[in-house]
Amino acid sequence: MFNSNPDLTSIQRSDFARDFRWGSSTSSYQIEGAAREDGRGESIWDRFCALPGNIRDGSNGDVACDHYHRWPEDLDLACSLGSNAYRFSIAWPRIFPQGRGKTPNQAGLDYYSRLVDGMLERGLEPWVTLYHWDLPQALQDQGGWANRDTIDAFVEYADVVSGHLGDRIKHWITHNEPWCTAFHGNYEGVHAPGIRNFKTALQVCHNVLVSHGQAIPVIRRNVPDARIGAALSLHPLQPASESMQDAAATRRHDGLRNRWFLDPLYGRGYPEDIWNLLGESAPVVQEGDLATIAAPTDFLGVNYYFPEIVADAPGVGSMSTRVVETKDVERTAFGWEVSPDGMVRLLNRVSRDYRPTEIYITENGSTYDDVVTESGSIEDTQRRSYLIRHLQATKKIVDMGVPVKGYFAWSLLDNFEWAEGYIRRFGLTHVNFETQQRTLKASGEWYRAFLGGTL
Ligand code: FCB
Repeated sequence: MFNSNPDLTSIQRSDFARDFRWGSSTSSYQIEGAAREDGRGESIWDRFCALPGNIRDGSNGDVACDHYHRWPEDLDLACSLGSNAYRFSIAWPRIFPQGRGKTPNQAGLDYYSRLVDGMLERGLEPWVTLYHWDLPQALQDQGGWANRDTIDAFVEYADVVSGHLGDRIKHWITHNEPWCTAFHGNYEGVHAPGIRNFKTALQVCHNVLVSHGQAIPVIRRNVPDARIGAALSLHPLQPASESMQDAAATRRHDGLRNRWFLDPLYGRGYPEDIWNLLGESAPVVQEGDLATIAAPTDFLGVNYYFPEIVADAPGVGSMSTRVVETKDVERTAFGWEVSPDGMVRLLNRVSRDYRPTEIYITENGSTYDDVVTESGSIEDTQRRSYLIRHLQATKKIVDMGVPVKGYFAWSLLDNFEWAEGYIRRFGLTHVNFETQQRTLKASGEWYRAFLGGTL
């Protein structure tokens, strides 16, 4: 158990190895804005946001944090925190406005080139994500990730980006959270492209995994010293009761949420127990695909937010399971349970079952209803407590021998939180979306003192 009111000095940067990576994460669509500048093409998120009802506050990423123009200030901020790394993503429609083509959009490449130079000048090691959900709409018009041609398009895009930026970027994340790409986007329909079809979602999932595996040798060819991985959203699970039914339900839930990704990435193919439940929804798998997906990686990125408690629920959802909302547990404004213990359990399990050589916590963070005081400060003590406890948990995991080598807080800035629009703020920095003014919150101040060794 981690004390929910932790001492501010209970954890220190010096508790970790000197080369531990410390940073924050962002993604292109959530912060960049400049949606129609310098030849950027339409993405599935532009299209999705334009349909009434899809985004809670009716907003979109047209302007977002205006990071496209304000990146020097934002990188200054990341640097001022004392980070030695920064995770960001590339908007594919800035590189290939139509998804693919003979020549990439030079203005898009130049933008990211400047951005990466800006990171290096500030001592921030660039950790790039190639796909953080903003697929070019032109590819969606041809079936999106459910169409195998999108795999080829992704590999071409990965080739161009690694060819242009690989002299300066050494850390490559192919995909962010394939579970969300597949299931939020194509089964639940709550993310772009807003499709609700289980079979489509499973094919999307498979094609995304194949594209990860196919991109790896291409990136390695362009960047011989590249370190490559994927960032998965993973959840520790517990059954709602001691019944056999709930235990079996938890195993099924785990099968689709966690093992469906980890097993093939680590060379075991798709978990048979789940495959057998899919019937005609099972994806089309071509010969060689599983070997492709299992291409060796250098690290596993884990995005950790919350645990889930699972009950058997015949006929509910794709796996006849239900996530139980227990009372009396601490939750963020999103309703996500706060559980640093869950992170300890999760990373131990992943390490024990799959033996990745290195693990990076590529996202971890929380949303609360921040209040700006009259003096202009944001006293987000809950977010600060969340951060401290998850760093305590990180230390505990390291001490247990799990090879966790870095931590990236989600997020550097308040930003466009997908279907929640601007309602949910996850930043260590407050953004006033009218003036674009940035103000470091109490949580950010704490992170700065922690990283600067001045707690
Ligand atoms: C993750 C996403 C990230 C952000 C956080 C809150 O699932 O990767 O973009 O939205 O959740």
